[in-house]
Amino acid sequence: MCGIVGFTGTRPAQGILIEGLSRLEYRGYDSAGVAIYQDGKLEVVHRKGKVSSLAHTLGHFDFEGTCGIGHTRWATHGRPSEANAHPHTSCDGRIAVVHNGIIENFADLREELQAAGHSFTSDTDTEVVPHLIEQALRDGAPDLLSAVRSACERLVGAYALAVVSADEPGTIVATRKDSPLVVGQGAEGAYVASDIIAMIDATRDVVVMNDGELAKLTPEGVTYYTAAGQVIEDPRVTHVDWNLDVAEKGGYPDFMLKEIHEQPRVIRDTLAGRLVGGALSIDELDLSVEELNLIDRVYIIACGTSYHAGLIAKNLIEGWARIPCECEVASEFRYRNPIITPTTLVVAVSQSGETADTLAAIRDARVKGARVFGITNVVGSPVARESDGVIYTKANKEIAVASTKSFLGQVVSLTLLAMLLAQVKGKLKMNQIRLLFRELADTAEQVERILAECGPAVEEAAQACKDARSALFVGRGMGAAVSREGALKLKEISYLHAESYPAGEMKHGPIALIDEGFPVIAVATKSPVYDKLVSNLQESKARGAMVVAIATEGDEEIRKHADHVIYIPKVRDAFSAITASVPLQLLARAIAVARGCDVDQPRNLAKSVTVE
Ligand code: F6R
Repeated sequence: MCGIVGFTGTRPAQGILIEGLSRLEYRGYDSAGVAIYQDGKLEVVHRKGKVSSLAHTLGHFDFEGTCGIGHTRWATHGRPSEANAHPHTSCDGRIAVVHNGIIENFADLREELQAAGHSFTSDTDTEVVPHLIEQALRDGAPDLLSAVRSACERLVGAYALAVVSADEPGTIVATRKDSPLVVGQGAEGAYVASDIIAMIDATRDVVVMNDGELAKLTPEGVTYYTAAGQVIEDPRVTHVDWNLDVAEKGGYPDFMLKEIHEQPRVIRDTLAGRLVGGALSIDELDLSVEELNLIDRVYIIACGTSYHAGLIAKNLIEGWARIPCECEVASEFRYRNPIITPTTLVVAVSQSGETADTLAAIRDARVKGARVFGITNVVGSPVARESDGVIYTKANKEIAVASTKSFLGQVVSLTLLAMLLAQVKGKLKMNQIRLLFRELADTAEQVERILAECGPAVEEAAQACKDARSALFVGRGMGAAVSREGALKLKEISYLHAESYPAGEMKHGPIALIDEGFPVIAVATKSPVYDKLVSNLQESKARGAMVVAIATEGDEEIRKHADHVIYIPKVRDAFSAITASVPLQLLARAIAVARGCDVDQPRNLAKSVTVE
């Protein structure tokens, strides 16, 4: 949450900062600001609202300064307002700071600094940082780098910081703890940002900074330092293999639709190279066959959409590998006392790889002796670094706040993991594994067909649902798991209340909600529990529900029980969540568009949730 960017070099910084902030807007978009060094002072401009509003204001100034920092905010301490927007400055306005994270001891520091004569103008936790740096310089720190180092020694919490000073023109000092920060060097200067995407058109070789490290950026280059102030001679450079195309809509009206359409590619890339000599291989697991064989319990921990991917995988791990598997939201897992032994495998699923609750749960599980395996989309992210092994979901950068292609990448990766566990435990024979793998690979083509064919049916259903106040999503088995994702997608981007229930639970309460025209969206694909689901739909229909069914091609029977049907190709039940999730994503988007909502940047949300 919150995106930071900085540039120092030979070109005016203003355009580079605005471009970078626009690409980081997925991290937060309630206010934005920049500080640019020009004519001996820092020009600081803030605006409430999106980066476009800041860009509009900056258009009147057209600063020519070649060093600056910028920020796009997702409010934690202090409501969205111009006063609370970053950059924040010191008393004399000669130091400016942008920050991502939370300073937990800010109230104590603020009191101490106020007693020392500092005055504050915002309600944010961040504002203590420029004042601490100013105080460190007053107390004798020889330069900005040393002052930032000594300020950080006082901070408790999580931070990625970029700092400029009018007294050290052309220099940016950056540092981090528990919040991501990458640094890159392009032909025209040096960049620092929360995410590679802000600098991807200038360089694809970046240094992913480690906790406590500092970087000093100047137009001549970047020097890295340890927390103790020692120069790091050989910083580790990471190469990214995607390019600027991902940051552009490529002809689609929004990123969400573009990303939904990328899913066949995600399935293919996630599966590439996984079947070696007829057997499944996930080398990144870093566990020997003997160790894998000892695993007697699996916990999948995740939040939001990633949690839903875990619910789908629970069915597969228990069904195929016969290992007890719990799927839990990380914010609950971390505060209870789960039964963990050295033969427990904890699978942490996180698109961003930086979700605070998931990270805390990983740390806790490791302390308790579990092996931790991460499934993430972001190379070098904290989840990747803190896990014993990691599968990357190959979704490439996901920009729309509502997760789609990452979800599918997670489901496919978790499916592979379930197959691997079954292979190692001898619960599935090699020929069964090969057959499953082939069918899993075929889902790429099936998703392609869904994308090509189901548009009109989705649109018809969306028109029927768009004016509802609430909707119920139902399913059974795999359908129950994926319908939870359908409900989440709908509520987050259309602001329409939606809930998901296993269809068999309807008559234990939720059916009371149903009256004439109430939308019930059912994952009604052919499965061993299809007939049971149809009975549940009849019960809803009898009470006036307007049923939208996601059904298997060729199923004419379902038309008797549904007002609108979206057909998808027939697949094995184990893979039905993959195919059924696509019309659910399309439906949520179509309803949101029909309601006039911003599907890429829904209100109150941010793509990475780095706070509890
Ligand atoms: C919803 C969505 C969120 C995330 C959740 C966890 O579309 O994207 O529910 O799934 O915030 O985020 P990650 O996967 O980054 O840990």
